Amino acid sequence: MADVKLIIGANWGDEGKGKVDAYFSKEADLVIRATGGANAGHTVYYNNTSGETVKMALHLVPGGIVYNYTMCLIGQGVALDMEVLQEELKMLSDNYIFDPKSRVKISGTCNVVMPYHKDLDRLHESLKSKKIGTTGKGIGPAYSDNRLRTGLLVYDLLLSEQELASKIAVAIKAHNELFKAFNMSECVVDPNELATIYHSYGKFLKDNNMVVNGHEFVKKYLDNPLAKIVVEGAQSTRLSIENGDYPNCTSSDSNTLGTLSGAHLSHKDVTEVINVNKAYFTRVGNGPFPTEYVSHINSQGELTSYEKQEAFEGDILREIGKEYGATTGRPRRTGAFDAVLAKNSAEISGADYLCITRLDTLGEYGLEHGSVQICTEYKYEGKNISYYPDNMEFTHETPTPNYITFDGGWKIDSENMKTFDSLPFKARLFIKIIEETTGVPVKYIGTGPNNCDLIVRDI
Ligand code: GTP
Ligand code: IMP
Ligand code: MG
Repeated sequence: MADVKLIIGANWGDEGKGKVDAYFSKEADLVIRATGGANAGHTVYYNNTSGETVKMALHLVPGGIVYNYTMCLIGQGVALDMEVLQEELKMLSDNYIFDPKSRVKISGTCNVVMPYHKDLDRLHESLKSKKIGTTGKGIGPAYSDNRLRTGLLVYDLLLSEQELASKIAVAIKAHNELFKAFNMSECVVDPNELATIYHSYGKFLKDNNMVVNGHEFVKKYLDNPLAKIVVEGAQSTRLSIENGDYPNCTSSDSNTLGTLSGAHLSHKDVTEVINVNKAYFTRVGNGPFPTEYVSHINSQGELTSYEKQEAFEGDILREIGKEYGATTGRPRRTGAFDAVLAKNSAEISGADYLCITRLDTLGEYGLEHGSVQICTEYKYEGKNISYYPDNMEFTHETPTPNYITFDGGWKIDSENMKTFDSLPFKARLFIKIIEETTGVPVKYIGTGPNNCDLIVRDI
């Protein structure tokens, strides 16, 4: 059987999964995106033909596309936005990435995000008294239609224009009534107009031979004992619709099990599950964040103006880490490493190893701020607990963290610190506490922004 690595976010997304993906993808035969859609933002680095390192943000196409010999699959669990896909393919060609159209395959049973899903996302968010801060990319409504069995699959785009128009007509019947009722008549859909556009997208996919039977496509690789498969998880454990902070989560199961089925894999196929955590935590959008630091972000998730000398610890961390969303540009909420949450995520996703990214950034924050913290226990409902509660939405209480605090910080010279033993003492201690609290070995450590700034421990 092939070697299958599953890379799963353990916090609230944006853990820097892109770096771990890159480490494995450069040697992979197949890289798969399995869940979510253009709500995910993935930072990818590659060396262009002049040898310069170029940074690129991808939302749908797996980051493995930057390696010439890698095939990429957008699996059945993805909510596919055809407009974004076309923009990304163009951007990749413009950046001289080798023949992206022949190396990206799309499962025919992938859900399609339609323009009306974005209008519905906006409408449903506006009706909520407590906003979840959706990215507005139409992902939730696309999955909802899929569950109602009125969603469109990629295979639908390959039908005749008339057949597609009749499917769209059924899909939008109730939505059009909703748009009229909420005075959004500009959003009412004409199925024939939309069918013309989406049929032409289907033609594009067909002409480029991009649509595949996902199961059979993956099986060819699985059956080859020399093949290497990487599954690029999107979002994270805490954003999963199944185990995340419902309702403050996304609409797909971004955990191990959802990621597997979205990638046309079974649990028996996996060689290694890697849970990626940041050395400090961040979150975009609303929802509980036990170790959140005070900062100038208001309840709408907007950054309010402040002078440098008035910065709170959350602001200092956000500025040092440049924590702004890759998809929406929104400022991220920031806070301390939460080992209770990391343990819970590792249990849910069956993590074999942890990756801790941005150990360098945390050290710099410690030097600037005077200390770094790690939460190893909570106080919740009057008791000390060491698990992540599932009823915060109902108790209206966010756990209070009990911290271990280190004075100062550390400096990591990623060029010269390539082994765990070469890291500063406090940085190593930080990692040891994470291992003790979570019970999972930290095999991968991010020490700088570049792909090569990754320590891989021999454990
Ligand atoms: P996912 O959303 O988890 O896929 O991650 P992402 O790659 O989209 O994360 P994000 O948008 O936060 O971008 C990651 C950024 O963090 C990139 O600019 C990386 O260079 C940077 N980064 C990743 N790991 C490290 C690290 O260990 N140290 C530092 N200093 N930067 C890192
Ligand atoms: P949606 O998936 O766009 O509906 O957004 C639901 C929630 O998940 C919001 O709080 C988003 O900010 C968050 N979210 C969705 N995708 C990502 C991601 O890739 N990184 C971080 N947060 C995300
Ligand atoms: Mg991201």
